[in-house]
Amino acid sequence: MSWPLLRSVLFHLDAENAHRLAHAAFGLVTPGVARRQRAQPAPSLAVECMGLRFDSPLGLAAGFDKGDAHLAGLFALGFSHVEIGTITPRPQAGNDRPRLFRIPEARALVNRMGFNNAGAEVCSRRLAAAPRAARFGPVGVNIGKNKTTPNERAVDDYLACIDALHAQADYMVVNISSPNTPGLRALQEKGALEKLIRACSARLAERAPRMPLLLKLAPDLEPEAFDEAVDVAIDAGVHGIIATNTTLSRPGLDANPVAREQGGLSGAPLEPLATACVGRAYARARGRVPIVGAGGVMDAAGAWAKIRAGATLVQAYTGLIYGGPAFVRRVNEGLVDLMARDGFRSVAEAVGADHRA
Ligand SMILES: Cc1cc2nc3c(=O)[nH]c(=O)nc-3n(C[C@H](O)[C@H](O)[C@H](O)COP(=O)(O)O)c2cc1C
Repeated sequence: MSWPLLRSVLFHLDAENAHRLAHAAFGLVTPGVARRQRAQPAPSLAVECMGLRFDSPLGLAAGFDKGDAHLAGLFALGFSHVEIGTITPRPQAGNDRPRLFRIPEARALVNRMGFNNAGAEVCSRRLAAAPRAARFGPVGVNIGKNKTTPNERAVDDYLACIDALHAQADYMVVNISSPNTPGLRALQEKGALEKLIRACSARLAERAPRMPLLLKLAPDLEPEAFDEAVDVAIDAGVHGIIATNTTLSRPGLDANPVAREQGGLSGAPLEPLATACVGRAYARARGRVPIVGAGGVMDAAGAWAKIRAGATLVQAYTGLIYGGPAFVRRVNEGLVDLMARDGFRSVAEAVGADHRA
């Protein structure tokens, strides 16, 4: 069945049911099938950063696999890395359904999932049970706090997740930027952020020396607060910044009834805002840590814009929903053409090119 046809079938289902169905199918893929399916990206797309090797810049953003650990199926799509999560210490159901909405005419989603996941112990077991051969690239684990944990005790939740999950991760991400856990984004404030990152960085260094710790930021911070968060996080020990999570804003969607649903917006309308955040983070980090760009990467041009703005790696979620199984291959092939067009021999050479132009 062609992707446009399959997509029109899936898009007749409620968005979360369609997602569950597709995700269940990924769970059936074996490492052997994944090896045959996976298109090997051009060698010029390979990226080394944070001590890890990625066979292309493009990975799967957090939230698609919230701890099921369907690694073979997700890597079969061609992603260079897969980020699992957000995982919280204790299991939680998330918000009431419906909580995921499509805006097809804008190639966007609105979600207020609320960190539905089976908890750190179960996720750790599932990751441990996934065959080593299913790991075609780095696996990140993105962690958060339970909804019922007050912010004053948030640090304990992140440390519990590091303890439970570090052994299964190649890198870990502190997520304080989901708009769907009340109060979570307040942890981006200077004092709270410094305390959180220092504690996580120290704990991870103890448990897994040299494992990269990243911080994922929201695109809705005021520019000065965003810059400050980047500085504080780097000083407190992060090895990378992911910019960005979903937005509470609704750029260009004022008239759209679905856009009025509460939650975070992802996909094409987020692209300019997220790319601007990548540029800010890159300028602020001044090479101290790499930037991972996420938000509205729907095609090769979008991935290239993030790289030129300063992203060493790029992640996508909504692009996969609208682009289908060939999404990653198309982006990777397009990136090779765009690199040649702009006269770069490697991704590393192009990172931040717009700042030098
Ligand atoms: C349904 C859905 C659930 C998400 N869940 C998470 C999550 O649990 N943790 C997280 O850090 N980001 C989560 N995200 C945000 C994505 O990882 C990504 O940062 C954002 O969607 C922007 O990228 P995109 O435009 O390519 O989707 C979620 C996104 C969507 C659409």
